Amino acid sequence: MDRANPTCARGFRAMNNKTEKQYIQELEASEANRKRAEEALRESESLCNAIFENMDGAMLIFDDDTTILKVNAEAEKVSGYSKEELEGKKSWTDFVRGEALEKMREFKKLRIVNPAVVPKNYEFKPANREGITKDIALTVAAIPGTKKFVAALLDRTERRRLETQLQQAQKMEAIGTLAGGITHDFNNILGAIIGYTELALIETEKGTKIREYLEEAVRAENRAKDLVHQILTFSRQAAIEKKPVLIASVITEALKLMKASLPATIDIKTHIEKEIGTVKADFTQIHQVVMNLCSNAAQAMSEDGGTLEVSLTPLEVDSLFADQYPGMHPGSYVRFTVSDTGCGMTADVMERIFDPYFTTKEKGEGTGLGLSMAHGIVGRYDGVITVESEPERGTTFHVYLPRISQEAEKREIKRALATGCERILFVDDEPSLTDIGKQILEHLGYQVTARTSSTEALELFRSQPDQFDIVITDMT
Ligand SMILES: Nc1ncnc2c1ncn2[C@@H]1O[C@H](COP(=O)(O)OP(=O)(O)O)[C@@H](O)[C@H]1O
Ligand SMILES: [Mg+2]
Repeated sequence: MDRANPTCARGFRAMNNKTEKQYIQELEASEANRKRAEEALRESESLCNAIFENMDGAMLIFDDDTTILKVNAEAEKVSGYSKEELEGKKSWTDFVRGEALEKMREFKKLRIVNPAVVPKNYEFKPANREGITKDIALTVAAIPGTKKFVAALLDRTERRRLETQLQQAQKMEAIGTLAGGITHDFNNILGAIIGYTELALIETEKGTKIREYLEEAVRAENRAKDLVHQILTFSRQAAIEKKPVLIASVITEALKLMKASLPATIDIKTHIEKEIGTVKADFTQIHQVVMNLCSNAAQAMSEDGGTLEVSLTPLEVDSLFADQYPGMHPGSYVRFTVSDTGCGMTADVMERIFDPYFTTKEKGEGTGLGLSMAHGIVGRYDGVITVESEPERGTTFHVYLPRISQEAEKREIKRALATGCERILFVDDEPSLTDIGKQILEHLGYQVTARTSSTEALELFRSQPDQFDIVITDMT
């Protein structure tokens, strides 16, 4: 409108009954209003931007046709793509696959027709640029008055991992309790089986087929006994006996087992110093550490083969060396090393290998418990376990255990069985064990009275103390 044009101004005046001055004031006011509105708009825009950029999560705005229009810095981080690569170029459908994509497309359609039936929040597992799947909590909403949508994504991957780990730990705890509970009964049953088999062995002539079978049965039964012991170790209910152990013989025995299962594509080189002496530990547990390290090495080389090197050497640790490893002290150690030329590990993987349940292997190939057990066991004997690795080059584990001067105890003492003719009172609450004990002792020449009730046994002993030379009881 032209204020200099009197005709027009007059005409306006005639229409609105306003003076020219009034009219100008109004015009100025509306100009100020417009400015204020613009300012308010700018402010709200920068507010939106600040929220968009600084939210504790990834945010994106996408079009009705699924094109991503705008992303914040966190979205760049989560997806692995830059703003420039995403905005206007990618579509959210590029990140979702299979069934999840179908479901989300369906949600999108429904969100327009009937938003009430679509969940506002749900979880899905998109893959980022490197193809790594993430656990994402998603919130989507339509932006009113537009055909656009806003989505907020929270990365829950780490939290899920911790939750799963906790669940696993609880599961193991429950298994441990269960195992502890049934082991007492199981041991009694096993005791009966072993006892009767041994009795049968006594009754069988050497060199016969039956004797051979029975000897096999005893071997299997002893394996079962070891297994029970392992379950108990795992559930931390077994009291571990530390005894001087000839470390070279543990390793040689484990290697014998290992060699039998190695494929021909894997070479094995060993350097075991036999006269290295003893460490204070439990034979079975050290055996387990050796097996775990060697089978990891073999698995790392399962694709292309390679060389497995195992060595055992003495080592005098000085304070300079000891300072590098928490828990190590200057003194005599043995160093057991397992090296492979396999796939190696990235720094990320290496950081987590001792975590219980951490595994990079397929279900059925790995439980993720091998190294965490090895770590626990080595620590229990005041040792240290270290690792060096490079992707595609290979891995080296060192286990350091304090060396002691004590001589090793013989593991299996093959003693001549004592015989005699003394009178024995044999007490055990398990009838089959009482029966076995009685029979074995009688076979050795003793005169045995057996009782399964301790009160009965006590009464008997009180009434005829002269009738017995020895009392044998399980005392539990
Ligand atoms: N010698 C090795 N070479 C490469 N990676 C290894 C080696 N030893 C262990 N790892 C890594 O450490 C992870 C944990 O090992 P472990 O606790 O023994 O569990 P599992 O063998 O059941 O996966 C393995 O999944 C693997 O990623
Ligand atoms: Mg393993």
